[in-house]
Amino acid sequence: MGYSGKDKAEEKGLMAMLEVHNVTKDFDGLRANDDISFTLEKDELVGLIGPNGAGKTTLFNCISGLHPLTSGRIIFAGEEITHLKAYEVARLGLARTFQVYVASGDLTVKENVMVGCFMRTRSRALAKERAGEILTDLKLTDLSNYLVSELPVSAQKRVTMATALGSDPKLLLLDEVAAGLNPSEIDEIMAIIKHVHDDLGVTVMLIEHVMELVMKVSDRVIVLDYGQKIAEGEPTTVARDPLVIKAYLGERYVTEHAEELE
Ligand SMILES: Nc1ncnc2c1ncn2[C@@H]1O[C@H](COP(=O)(O)OP(=O)(O)OP(=O)(O)O)[C@@H](O)[C@H]1O
Ligand SMILES: [Mg+2]
Repeated sequence: MGYSGKDKAEEKGLMAMLEVHNVTKDFDGLRANDDISFTLEKDELVGLIGPNGAGKTTLFNCISGLHPLTSGRIIFAGEEITHLKAYEVARLGLARTFQVYVASGDLTVKENVMVGCFMRTRSRALAKERAGEILTDLKLTDLSNYLVSELPVSAQKRVTMATALGSDPKLLLLDEVAAGLNPSEIDEIMAIIKHVHDDLGVTVMLIEHVMELVMKVSDRVIVLDYGQKIAEGEPTTVARDPLVIKAYLGERYVTEHAEELE
């Protein structure tokens, strides 16, 4: 399982994990993504924030091949993926989680993770073995035989990450994995995100409204508003940006975090 040989990006000597060039996505007269460009370097952990309806999930859908673009180009690990289907993009090593997680009710936790592993192998035995390893690594072994639908939301969120890891991704897009969690559960999921990034070497982009999480873990933050990228930079710089404060964070955030932002 996993990758054999060098990545095309490595062969070409390119460092970027993802290049998004002028991506625009229209839905019947609504411009959900408006000429968005950015680059993710290999091993970065980048946050994507912005108000409800700003176009964050749409951008993930465009990148992961679920939505055809209206215009623009996307390059993943040196390969053009602009016109690829979602399963083709996934095979190249781009995994994602979904904002609204619909658990496969009939599957156990382990079977769910195996679904991810089948992206890399046809062997049931190998998929089972790999799923077991991932569950151990994410400290989910105790939950292996539960139906995902029986679990509390916080555990379901961890399972969705485990399933995404099953495909052995180079890039993981996380859509609000901390939504609806209490502070200790947020700490747990934050530790998993950091483990996946720091120890497993996966490049991560995460959409998050939980600012404690996104501002703490991100190397860089990109901000969308009304489909446009309005800011990009280090978390503390972005949090002081008047445009970002006005569009999303609010003055209260700045007052409450004055010390960190100095
Ligand atoms: N499949 C679709 N068809 C039509 N309009 C859509 C579709 N998906 C998203 N939209 C619209 O595109 C805009 C951006 O939505 P999107 O879900 O990307 O926002 P978001 O930034 O993820 O918001 P949230 O923080 O609430 O999840 C919204 O106006 C939404 O209604
Ligand atoms: Mg969304």
